[in-house]
Amino acid sequence: MASLSFTSQIGGKDASWLQCRPLGFGRCAERVRFRVFASESPTHPDLSVTVNGLRMPNPFVIGSGPPGTNYTVMKKAFDEGWGAVIAKTVSLDASKVINVTPRYARLRAGANGSAKGQIIGWENIELISDRPLETMLKEFKQLKEEYPDRVLIASIMEEYDKAAWEELIDRVEQTGIDAIEINFSCPHGMPERKMGAAVGQDCALLEEVCGWINAKATVPVWAKMTPNITDITQPARVALRSGCEGISAINTIMSVMGINLNTLRPEPCVEGYSTPGGYSCKAVHPIALAKVMSIAQMMKAEFRDKDYSLSGIGGVETGGDAAEFILLGANTVQVCTGVMMHGYGHVKKLCSELQDFMKMQNFSSIEDFRGISLEYFTTHTDLVRRQQEAIRQRKAVRKGLQSDKEWTGDGFVNETESMVSN
Ligand SMILES: Cc1cc2nc3c(=O)[nH]c(=O)nc-3n(C[C@H](O)[C@H](O)[C@H](O)COP(=O)(O)O)c2cc1C
Repeated sequence: MASLSFTSQIGGKDASWLQCRPLGFGRCAERVRFRVFASESPTHPDLSVTVNGLRMPNPFVIGSGPPGTNYTVMKKAFDEGWGAVIAKTVSLDASKVINVTPRYARLRAGANGSAKGQIIGWENIELISDRPLETMLKEFKQLKEEYPDRVLIASIMEEYDKAAWEELIDRVEQTGIDAIEINFSCPHGMPERKMGAAVGQDCALLEEVCGWINAKATVPVWAKMTPNITDITQPARVALRSGCEGISAINTIMSVMGINLNTLRPEPCVEGYSTPGGYSCKAVHPIALAKVMSIAQMMKAEFRDKDYSLSGIGGVETGGDAAEFILLGANTVQVCTGVMMHGYGHVKKLCSELQDFMKMQNFSSIEDFRGISLEYFTTHTDLVRRQQEAIRQRKAVRKGLQSDKEWTGDGFVNETESMVSN
C-alpha cells in the first residue's frame, strides 16, 4: 500500500498524522497518506481545483457583479489569472432593468467622521445587468473563443415563467459558457417580478423553478443563495435535490448603510430618498462563514457521496479569508467587492497568501485541507460537556489520586501522569 511505503520513507518520524482525518466531505485516507512532510513540502503548493468537471488554475473566482460586467473587464480577469469568471447577472429583457446613481454607500472603520478609515462595509442598490442580452451573449462567445481553456460562468435570473427560463438557458448555453449560476438571491429590486431573492426565500417556488432549470440545462448549475432567510440550509437542500450541481453562498445582506445626520436622509441618497440594499465586503465575512458552515454540514450529512460543489462568497480580501472558506468545505471562493477595491491584479496576492498558508501547514493541494475545520463545530450543550470534562481532568492532574478507587479507564494515562515527579 502506498501509505506503508510512505511511512517507511519517513522512518522514525511520528506517523500519527497519517491517521485518517476527515478531509473534504468525509474523504480521508487517500489524500492524507500522500501529504508530504515539512522538509519535503513543494515550494509552490498546487492551487488548481476541479469543480463539477471544470478545471481551474486556482480557486479564486470573480463573483457576479461589476467585475464581470463586460468583455473588457472579464478579459482582464482572465489575463490577470483568476481561476474563473462569473459574469454579471443577465435576464432576457434588459430594458426592464433601470439603475440609479449613486448606487453605492460605504462603511469605514475608525473613520470618526473622516473619509480616511478603512472600508469594511459596502452597500449597493445596483440591479442586474442593464446591458442588452444580445451584447452580453456576443461577449461571452468572444471570450470563450479567445480563452477556450478558461472557465466562464453565466449568471442568470428570470421571472416566474418556465418558457422564459428555458429560452435564457438555451441562449446562454449557445455561447459556449462552461456553467450557469442562478441568481436566487438579489436582495433588492424586482421582487414584484418574482425575481432573485423572491424565489430563493420561497422553497416551494424554488423547487419548481430549479426543476425547470435543471430539466433544460446541459452544463453544471450552481444555485446562489440569499443570506436573508432564517435557515439557509433549507433552500440549499431544495436546490441540490432539484438537480443543481453546486451551491454558491452568500449574496449580499439586506442593509441600510446609514442616515446622514446633517440632511436626515438615508444613504445612498437618490433625489433625497433611498431603499434598503445589499451589504458586502469585510464586515459580512463572519456571517458568510457561518452560512457556508451550515450549508457544508448539511451537504456533508445529506449529499456526501455525490459530486456537489460549494462556492464561498463574502468579504474575501486575503488568502487567509479564502482559506477559511475552504477549511469549511468550499471548493472555490468568489470575490466581488474586493476586486472593486483592489483591482484585478489582486488575484496574485490572494494566490501567494493562500500558498503561504498551505506551506505553513504542509498542505500540498486544496483537497488536502478542504473541509477539515468543519468537525470542530458542535452544539453549545456539547461545549459545556467538553469543558466540564476538561476541568475535571485538569483537577485530577493537579491533585493526584487521593485513593485507589479514583482510577478511571478513560483518564488512566492522565491519572498516572498526575503522580509522576519528573
Ligand atoms: C455592486 C455589486 C453588484 C452585484 N451584482 C450582483 C449580480 O448582478 N448578481 C449576483 O449574483 N450577485 C451580485 N452581487 C453580489 C456579489 O456577487 C457577492 O455575492 C456579494 O457582494 C458578497 O461578496 P463580496 O463581499 O466579495 O462582494 C453584487 C455585489 C455588489 C457589491
